[in-house]
Amino acid sequence: MADTTFKGFATTAIHHGYDPMAHEGALTPPVHMTSTFAFETTEMGGEIFAGERPGHVYSRISNPTVDLLEQRVAMLEGAEAGVATASGMGAITAVLWTFLSPGDEVIVDKTLYGCTFAFMRHGLTRFGITITHVDMSDPQNLEAAISGRTRVVYFETPANPNMRLVDIAAVSRIARRHGARVVVDNTYATPVITRPIELGADVVVHSATKYLGGHGDLIAGIAVGNAEDMRNVRLFGLKDMTGAVLSPLTAHLIMRGLKTLELRMERHCASANAVARALEENPAIAKVYYPGLESFSQHELATRQMPGFGGMIAFELKGGYAAGMAFLNRLKLIRRAVSLGDAETLIQHPASMTHSTYTAEERHEHGISDGLIRLSVGLETLDDILADLRQALGEDGQRLAA
Ligand SMILES: Cc1ncc(COP(=O)(O)O)c(C=O)c1O
Repeated sequence: MADTTFKGFATTAIHHGYDPMAHEGALTPPVHMTSTFAFETTEMGGEIFAGERPGHVYSRISNPTVDLLEQRVAMLEGAEAGVATASGMGAITAVLWTFLSPGDEVIVDKTLYGCTFAFMRHGLTRFGITITHVDMSDPQNLEAAISGRTRVVYFETPANPNMRLVDIAAVSRIARRHGARVVVDNTYATPVITRPIELGADVVVHSATKYLGGHGDLIAGIAVGNAEDMRNVRLFGLKDMTGAVLSPLTAHLIMRGLKTLELRMERHCASANAVARALEENPAIAKVYYPGLESFSQHELATRQMPGFGGMIAFELKGGYAAGMAFLNRLKLIRRAVSLGDAETLIQHPASMTHSTYTAEERHEHGISDGLIRLSVGLETLDDILADLRQALGEDGQRLAA
């Protein structure tokens, strides 16, 4: 019988929920590449369908390989259950379609990943749902805006792309008092750094495409929360509303990634911290946004809520947009690419790429400047990352090596 108690983070990520002896000694869990499941008798099939007997019926609803991934991520996040999906957007939309009805309100933080913003602003609003943006960096703003119509309070922390933080415990206390669910996108921090459910959140969503998978070779998502919510997300948001089901093969790749998640995050954090400090020292740079810097406006919250400061940095050049474009084009090792959390260091320009779903006015209103650059610090040798940044910043960048 597999031991299902939480041990250390890495032990849980490697072993949780699986006993090789129940699978002919196979060290690695089998990949159940099957669309459907045979029933021993018609009656048994009916009982499984009715939820009266455990078992699988069809892989759009559940699959043993995907199930193991869901159990592992739920355990790592301190949640009862999980639902894995074909993408991060699949997780976000499956959760929100499940919780919301016409007439409801969602209160969201000021800054969101571009496609999440588009789903809220251009998707949910078409179905009679009100989206209210509130600057949640001060929880009192939520207190002032929340009402009996508010069903969901939704935010990212750190937020993509400008690194703004939200105090999960403070916001969750307010939402709970008003009967609203708190949904946190924990893609940037990962459960290695922050476990929102332990701080009072109801549901955590991830783009597993990023750090959970960790190798830039898949698209996936996952939601975790209490068993009843996740059952509803599975049987409505996933099964009927989105159909955004995860392939068992992709679930297998994410579980391979999870084995090194803690190890990778340690390296991402250490390298990003060094890069952020080097950038801050550089005369070509106007501003660096990284929670680990003493100059970061929410550094005190970061030290309380993030025992590591993550692998993501945002910054602006003194020369603004034009200097930023020229700098990006001079990089040789660092890849100009969207996505994040990969072994490769990736850099991109949110205003023209990940956040081009906002209009220019919306970007201005939501704190995403045209000159902002987003850097996902990878796992390469730190000196090589620094050297590439230094050469791309030109003469002014010499001090980046320090
Ligand atoms: C914070 C965040 N949430 C959600 C998503 C969407 O995830 P996916 O691309 O896997 O659908 C992304 C993608 O970049 C993201 O950065």
